Amino acid sequence: MEKERTIAEPWRIKVVEPIKVTTKEYRREVIKEAGYNTFLLKSKDVFIDLLTDSGTSAMSDNQWAGMMLGDEAYSGSKNFYNLEKAVQEIYGYKYVLPTHQGRGAEHIISQITIKQGDFVPGNMYFTTTREHQERAGGIFVDVIINEAYDTHSEHTFKGNIDLKKLQSLIDRVGADRIPYVSFEMNVNMAGGQPFSMENAEKVSELCHKYGISIFYDATRCVENAYFIQQREKGYHDKSIKEILKETMSLGDGCTMSSKKDGLVNIGGFLALNDYDLFVKGMALLPVFEGFPTYGGLAGRDLEAVARGIYESVEDDYISARVRQVEYLGNKIKDSGVPIVTPIGGHAVYLDAKRFLSHIPQYEFPAQRLAAEIYVDSGVRSMERGIISAGRDKKTGDHKYPKLELVRLAIPRRVYTNLHMDVVAESVVEVYSYRDKLRGIKMVYEPAQLRFFTARFELL
Ligand code: F0G
Repeated sequence: MEKERTIAEPWRIKVVEPIKVTTKEYRREVIKEAGYNTFLLKSKDVFIDLLTDSGTSAMSDNQWAGMMLGDEAYSGSKNFYNLEKAVQEIYGYKYVLPTHQGRGAEHIISQITIKQGDFVPGNMYFTTTREHQERAGGIFVDVIINEAYDTHSEHTFKGNIDLKKLQSLIDRVGADRIPYVSFEMNVNMAGGQPFSMENAEKVSELCHKYGISIFYDATRCVENAYFIQQREKGYHDKSIKEILKETMSLGDGCTMSSKKDGLVNIGGFLALNDYDLFVKGMALLPVFEGFPTYGGLAGRDLEAVARGIYESVEDDYISARVRQVEYLGNKIKDSGVPIVTPIGGHAVYLDAKRFLSHIPQYEFPAQRLAAEIYVDSGVRSMERGIISAGRDKKTGDHKYPKLELVRLAIPRRVYTNLHMDVVAESVVEVYSYRDKLRGIKMVYEPAQLRFFTARFELL
């Protein structure tokens, strides 16, 4: 048998950005000032920033070169046409509306498709996506498979839609009350978990039988394609490009936050096949984003997005990216720390319910844990639990989600595996004294998307 060989990253570093280590005393002080909310920390006080994989990627020399070719015309910029061509070629959709980022596209698609009282089924919610669906008058209905809520389950496609749940919603409310299915690729809130091609085919068949559209949240579509390539029968010899195109062909369009798999610091788009919807979107775009050929972005940004699309579907790149996430996840898991398995595509999720099993959910265990990891090592992570879930609009009570997680999201092409070692050591260290930690109480709560700016005090 041949010995397994090390596979290194398919890039080398050309520019570096220095980062600073601070002392524990200092960090204890600044996290208190930040109300124990890692969103409110200053970036200069963070050593390894795993708050998000959004907009934090390192662009390539090719992308930076493209930035110099920005055509900053108000209308008809050549960079828009490059973007349009990239989307048509790689995703396969006809019409492209650029937006400042993913939520801009979510806003537009929600406004042009959802009527008051409509139902929008989706494979678990995402914060901004659901907010826009609800603002448009929609009612979000979670139709993800139950395994997605089981942090122990080794199901290889936890992002799958439960066809029975979807069918029963259609039977209950009628297809005409369901404008579309919101189908997220590599489901963020489930721990970066993919859906299978088989599932997408079945969902597509069911929806199209009833005349219901499918709009993907394509934010992490390349990671989803990678997992299909690695895990699904019949796809091992297909390229990421082929798999992605095949997945997209089962839907009717997508919203995209290019800040993740798109390898840029800002940008997004809405892609559609339906001409009438495109026209409706085009009418709204200038009100909220900008003229339809720039959509809130500079010409140079459009160029970076276009080039990022091609780079993101290189097989070597995406495999190195996901393997780094697995490297970190395995280190943490092998030390006995409870995490969501299988390890996700963009992040490692600590299971705060099990990590801090003595802290009740209403005392925000995940938020507490994220703050403690920061104090220990200067590593910044994010709560994805009861605070992110928000309040029930009817009862006003917390939503109490099944998953209470801390996310360690890995930016693309930014950190080395030694950085990952530092992160793993810190998590294991905090785990060793977990019994000493107490909960926290919320002392300030904003009306919307509270996780961004809520403040806390130690109990
Ligand atoms: N959909 C998903 C699945 C996301 O993860 C995000 C952003 C969006 C849509 C919105 O895109 O930020 O460009 O407006 N997620 C970031 C995160 C913020 O940290 O997970 P955006």
